[in-house]
Amino acid sequence: MPNKVFVLGAGSTRYGRLNEGIIEIAMNASTDAIESAGIRPKDIEAGYISNVFGVSDRQVHMAPVIMSNLGIPEVPGLSIESACGSGSIMFREAFANVAAGFYDCVLATGVEKITHTGTIQSTTLFSYCSDFFYEGGNGASFPGLFASIARAYMARYKANEEDLARVAVKNHENGMLNPKSHVRKKITVDDVLQSPVVASPLKLYDCCPFSDGASAVILCSADFAKKSGRPLVEVVGSGRGASPAAVQGREDITTIPSSVAAANQAYKMAGVTPKDIDFAEVHDCFTIAEIIDIEDLGFFKKGEGAYAVREGATSRSGEIPINPSGGLKSKGHPIGATGIGQVVEVFEQFTGKADGRVIKDAELALTHNFGATGASSAVHIFKKVN
Ligand SMILES: CC(C)(COP(=O)(O)OP(=O)(O)OC[C@H]1O[C@@H](n2cnc3c(N)ncnc32)[C@H](O)[C@@H]1OP(=O)(O)O)[C@@H](O)C(=O)NCCC(=O)NCCS
Repeated sequence: MPNKVFVLGAGSTRYGRLNEGIIEIAMNASTDAIESAGIRPKDIEAGYISNVFGVSDRQVHMAPVIMSNLGIPEVPGLSIESACGSGSIMFREAFANVAAGFYDCVLATGVEKITHTGTIQSTTLFSYCSDFFYEGGNGASFPGLFASIARAYMARYKANEEDLARVAVKNHENGMLNPKSHVRKKITVDDVLQSPVVASPLKLYDCCPFSDGASAVILCSADFAKKSGRPLVEVVGSGRGASPAAVQGREDITTIPSSVAAANQAYKMAGVTPKDIDFAEVHDCFTIAEIIDIEDLGFFKKGEGAYAVREGATSRSGEIPINPSGGLKSKGHPIGATGIGQVVEVFEQFTGKADGRVIKDAELALTHNFGATGASSAVHIFKKVN
């Protein structure tokens, strides 16, 4: 059995269009997490950094730069890239190293700076995260790929564009309560339906924005946690999964095999079922993704996700609140940071820091984040420790 691992502190920048350079953005979140954990930089034994397009801001090999800026240049750092799933996949590596007993205290920081490149260049760069030979290279950028997935889902399960829109309305409502959200704007189903078409049936408000931002957490062992005397969050489940990289390689495009595999592993490790989860942060890069996610994660039966959203089951007061932070849709999607940002939300929910958006009596939460159209996924389960 792996050793117990805890989240001791967490910090995040605002998500959105940021003027600072990528290292300054990463440092702001990292120092917030260090302060939140009540530790000193020299307590950190290793650093894990997730990022995808640092090259666009003239910085790759970011881990040693961040360690040096923290005044701990001798501490080994590792930079990890897994497209939009970079944060959670890096988190899994940080978790595994503490669970294996290699380290007692590590920093896990995710960062992205992309908005300076503009929508056309960002779309091109992001398409390099797809299976470029089959997808991006033939003009199938992510909105187009998720539009195909949406069409298949709507045809098979008799869902409609209003169902997709309801996901956006709910996540924007949640994001309004999060001061760090990128798109803080209350919208209606009609606003979504009347917004410009991006890739039919997906419209502007069905899509996440391009965001800059960073999020960071401190992970530690049980001994280290005990000495801190702080409120804690335990990582009780962790799973990883993979799918054929190109959508065309999948038998059924209304499910993401990597999400199902990662979730099953995480549930098994935690010894819980989907019914035990009190809220979840899931990968809603497009509204259709959230509907598929909540089925793949076992919260609803296949084909029933759209109906669950229609009935309000995923709202803050519903059966299983989904994306109380606002999700990728409203909080934003700085791709290297997103998976860590989800962990920050869980930490804030469980340690009394989610002012105005607390999910009452929640004790068990799940995070789910994937790369590209779900070629790689990671799922984690967290328990509030009183
Ligand atoms: C949806 C998308 C095409 C919009 O790009 P755009 O038309 O160039 O948008 P702009 O940046 O010019 O912004 C226009 C307005 O819409 C807002 N906006 C941009 N994207 C938005 C989004 N996704 N949701 C809500 N509002 C958005 C902007 O804030 C801006 O508002 P303002 O005029 O009040 O300032 C782009 O955000 C996109 O491609 N998103 C998907 C990103 C992606 O694929 N990520 C990877 C997922 S796997």
